[in-house]
Amino acid sequence: MCRGRFIVFEGIDGSGKSTALGAAASALSFEGIRYACEREPTSGRIGEIISAFMFGREGYDFDERTVAALFAADRLDHLLKKGGLEDTLSGGVNVLCDRFWLSSLAYQSSAFGMDRVWELNDGISSMIKPDLTLYYSVSADTAVKRIGSRGEKTEYYERRDRLERTLACYREAISRRMSEDNIVIIDGEQGEEEVAKATVSHILQLIIS
Ligand code: TMP
Repeated sequence: MCRGRFIVFEGIDGSGKSTALGAAASALSFEGIRYACEREPTSGRIGEIISAFMFGREGYDFDERTVAALFAADRLDHLLKKGGLEDTLSGGVNVLCDRFWLSSLAYQSSAFGMDRVWELNDGISSMIKPDLTLYYSVSADTAVKRIGSRGEKTEYYERRDRLERTLACYREAISRRMSEDNIVIIDGEQGEEEVAKATVSHILQLIIS
């Protein structure tokens, strides 16, 4: 059986990556291609602890370095648990994953340094690599407007100065991982339809090739 393709969606909050993932899922359903949608942080036990930190729950005010390790542990669990990423991909199912290690390099590096964050993820990289990473590029201004219009409770990483720092780290992380993670940059400032079209075209090219 042919191994599924591992496709990662990346970008700052408000970049439109999750909407693009939804469009990709609809296109794969339409084409009759098997896929599963995944996300990080996961909804597993370690992911729950991370979410509690991000929403500022009492008793979860960890040091940023601890948070970087928690994200890496959540990723390892996501990969190795029964029915996790590895099982899905080896079962021939394509995976559309909302965030993976590029997010750790972008969000945790400002506090911990990118080399340290990569060290935490390096062991995982010998077990899995994205076949395609789609990065949705938007300015902090656009992201702030989109986040504001959602009217939801904002979490730790959505504050404006953090978004700016995260964008800078994303740029550095992308230049480091461009070819290994097969990163494609999509202009997230475009309308939803254009973004969806570009997304689907890259994915179908990968899967059908
Ligand atoms: P999202 O579901 O809106 O993409 O939010 C997930 C949040 O988790 C987002 O603010 C980025 C953060 N995050 C990290 O900081 N590091 C990571 O490794 C991952 C996967 C997510």
